[in-house]
Amino acid sequence: MAPRGGQGSKTPKFGESDFVVVANRLPVDLERQPDGSTTWKRSPGGLVTALEPLLRRRSGAWVGWPGITDDGGEIGHDPIEQDDLQLHPVSLSTDDVAEYYEGFSNATLWPLYHDVIVKPIYHREWWDRYVDVNRRFAEATSRAAAKGATVWVQDYQLQLVPQMLRELRPDLTIGFFLHIPFPPVELFMQMPWRTEIIKGLLGADLVGFHLAGGAQNFLILSRRLIGANTSRGSVGVRARYGEVEVADRAVRVGAFPISIDSGALAQAARDRHVKRRAREIRAELGNPRKIMLGVDRLDYTKGIDVRLKAFSELLAEGRIKRDDTVLVQLATPSRERVESYQLLRNDIEREVGHINGEYAEVGHPMVHYIHRAVPRDELIAFFVAADVMLVTPLRDGMNLVAKEYVACRNDLGGALVLSEFTGAAAELRQAYLVNPHDLEGVKDVIEAALSQTDEEGRRRMRALRRQVLAHDVDRWARSFLDALSEAHPPGSK
Ligand code: ADP
Ligand code: F6P
Repeated sequence: MAPRGGQGSKTPKFGESDFVVVANRLPVDLERQPDGSTTWKRSPGGLVTALEPLLRRRSGAWVGWPGITDDGGEIGHDPIEQDDLQLHPVSLSTDDVAEYYEGFSNATLWPLYHDVIVKPIYHREWWDRYVDVNRRFAEATSRAAAKGATVWVQDYQLQLVPQMLRELRPDLTIGFFLHIPFPPVELFMQMPWRTEIIKGLLGADLVGFHLAGGAQNFLILSRRLIGANTSRGSVGVRARYGEVEVADRAVRVGAFPISIDSGALAQAARDRHVKRRAREIRAELGNPRKIMLGVDRLDYTKGIDVRLKAFSELLAEGRIKRDDTVLVQLATPSRERVESYQLLRNDIEREVGHINGEYAEVGHPMVHYIHRAVPRDELIAFFVAADVMLVTPLRDGMNLVAKEYVACRNDLGGALVLSEFTGAAAELRQAYLVNPHDLEGVKDVIEAALSQTDEEGRRRMRALRRQVLAHDVDRWARSFLDALSEAHPPGSK
């Protein structure tokens, strides 16, 4: 499909889509098969989980990277029609992936924005590549977006796109949402290109965060780094927006906690095949009295090591009986060429080996560790089967897994152990909240969750479900997009 406006014409070229999502990844990854052919596979992470169903309903366009390197320019930038979606690929070379994705996005920004759990690496070449790739995303978006379209830019990989896009296409309404935590001012100030990043974000009409604290940090940094006038009052959740004055515009700043398609997930968990599969899972695990479950990308922010250590010590102290309880850890491979992820994988696999070596019997492991993504229905069956869900990140923007578990527990069974350092903890106050840095506290809370009475479990789960079912991903998207259209009413400059 050729863009309107004509190649070589001086007038701006407009695309065809009135609503465009821009994210580092497309919702599907291209996979090269050994015979050279390619297939599409759902891509990992919470962002895709949240946005894909939503965009399908709106028949919008999605600009993103198809997940494989493309040095020969084979992918091109022609749109690809997939079901109700129009995918606009941005192809990345081997060097782009190494420096923009693995480097600046995931070895600089990711650790800096997650409380420097590992040390961020600052390389000038990575920054240059980040600028270059952000520009290509902005150009691809400009080709996809119709005149006056609404464009919604996603996440930390694309923080310069709002400003670049505004320069290319002042007719657009531009929203930006950050899916990970926005760091405290003291940490953000480490960033050598801190001013450029704040200016990049301020190209948007609305900048959204999960939590009011992130919005507040952003307002302070806008004052400090570019001397902007900003609102001073506190920012609310889906209300009481902040404002930054830039040149002749006002940029709105707000908090919009993301969620899941709760109703659809609850419905899927009611399916009799899923329920039967949940019973089979329990039987395959040896019918233990209690099943504990972890479901994460294999990321050092997720605190997988924390829960393994707690489990190991509880077994050692006899507070969990070895023939009583098993732990299932589903871990999706993630960013496998980044060194800190390789180190994490070694640590986790060593600890799993240690626990099984100490406490397992032949045919009865204590920890069932699966290093791959499992299909959706299988994952739901695991949620239905699990007596205790362990969500113990050291820092997490939201954590959709916690909400998914709650949505799947139509039976009001199960218990959610949830780190205070997740965005979800601000909403899921009836979970068993833990400080993942306090190992003794984590052990006590796991023990309490394992031994809760049915009545206590039902009371907590009922309250959690009320929250998750009422605040679904549609509500999140609506609240963001309504705030965006108020910030930039149709027809305004
Ligand atoms: P993040 O965006 O950091 O990966 P979230 O918890 O917000 O974390 O979202 C993760 C998404 O990926 C959820 O929808 C979850 O169900 C899915 N997921 C995580 N691990 C697995 C796995 N092993 N198999 C299948 N899906 C997974
Ligand atoms: O929400 C966090 C997030 O980083 C998304 O931006 C990303 O798509 C997802 O997790 C998975 O990470 P990656 O795309 O690096 O595999």
